Amino acid sequence: MKNLLLVILLGSFLAGSTTRAFADGPDATAARLYRLKCAQCHGADGEGGIGASLKGKLRHHGAAQLFDVIKNGIPSTEMPASGLPDPQVKKMVAYVLYLNKRKP
Ligand code: HEC
Repeated sequence: MKNLLLVILLGSFLAGSTTRAFADGPDATAARLYRLKCAQCHGADGEGGIGASLKGKLRHHGAAQLFDVIKNGIPSTEMPASGLPDPQVKKMVAYVLYLNKRKP
């Protein structure tokens, strides 16, 4: 009986974390990094604030330009270099594109 309860608890825990991962968009790591390093300027959902809005038309186009912006920042603006290793910068590019397309 105890075991059954454990299985049910574990099952609902796992189901819960999968749902959350999907709510975070394509990549949970990117979502976490975004909240940690970007949201204070670009808003929780990319709506902008101190930083530019990531919704609608971006000034930087395509994965290569976005990679450069996130990797190196934009000189003489408040957009900082992220300091992330390349594979994570790639994830952030995908996440920015995800936020960009997501409806409000
Ligand atoms: C201290 C505030 C700040 C932080 C932190 C920050 N940004 Fe920015 N970001 C800006 C500002 C300001 C701009 C607009 C710069 C300009 O005037 O060109 C910008 C521009 C951008 C752009 C270009 C938008 C366009 O239209 O092409 C992208 C993409 C971007 N940021 C992504 C990120 C990501 C991803 C992170 C986290 C790793 C991040 N930013 C962290 C302030 C910030």
